[in-house]
Amino acid sequence: MDILKELRERRAYRALSPDELPDGAARRIVEAGTLAPSCYNNQPWRIVAAEGQSLEALKAALPEGNAWATRAPLIIGVAVREADDCRLDDGRDYALFDAGLCAMAMLIQATAEHLVAHPIAGYNPKKAKAALGLPSDHTLIALIVVARRGDPDGEDGKLLAEWQLKSERGERQRKALDEVAAFGRWPQGR
Ligand SMILES: Cc1cc2nc3c(=O)[nH]c(=O)nc-3n(C[C@H](O)[C@H](O)[C@H](O)COP(=O)(O)O)c2cc1C
Repeated sequence: MDILKELRERRAYRALSPDELPDGAARRIVEAGTLAPSCYNNQPWRIVAAEGQSLEALKAALPEGNAWATRAPLIIGVAVREADDCRLDDGRDYALFDAGLCAMAMLIQATAEHLVAHPIAGYNPKKAKAALGLPSDHTLIALIVVARRGDPDGEDGKLLAEWQLKSERGERQRKALDEVAAFGRWPQGR
């Protein structure tokens, strides 16, 4: 099982096709999210797959810089309430961490289905929460924009700014592995 293949293939593409997703894809992606591990198995995530009116209302909560996301046939909201997960005495809170694991599981499932799944933090949180029907004590930590990959040179690329088109066609940007990881112990002074 070479999951690195999916991880390498996953990119936060922005040129999206408005075509419907394959049958059952939304449910499989959401199920993948629910299979994530969580502290004490608290499963603090609340996942809302926006459809129809809620999807349109959610799109109205996006700023200009995320206009590309309005072409997506599916946007999934991931929310948590901090009190629903482990809060350790030394200050470690795990709700957002667990929501991230849940989100990543959904990204991987979508990638395995050859779909784009692009997480975003750029939205009006009040409007987005209202669109999704989420209670006010929940933090809507991310939206995941899901679509078939579009053609950046055609209609699907029209909503992208110049830098976004450049990123679409460019190499993935990552820090060198030894800048962010160590084997053994963290090197002194790094
Ligand atoms: C928490 C989070 C918030 C993000 N918010 C946005 C966003 O609002 N708009 C956007 O275009 N991309 C957003 N991204 C995508 C990142 O820009 C992208 O993941 C990053 O540049 C690395 O590119 P890659 O995912 O293709 O490797 C976000 C990603 C994460 C994880």
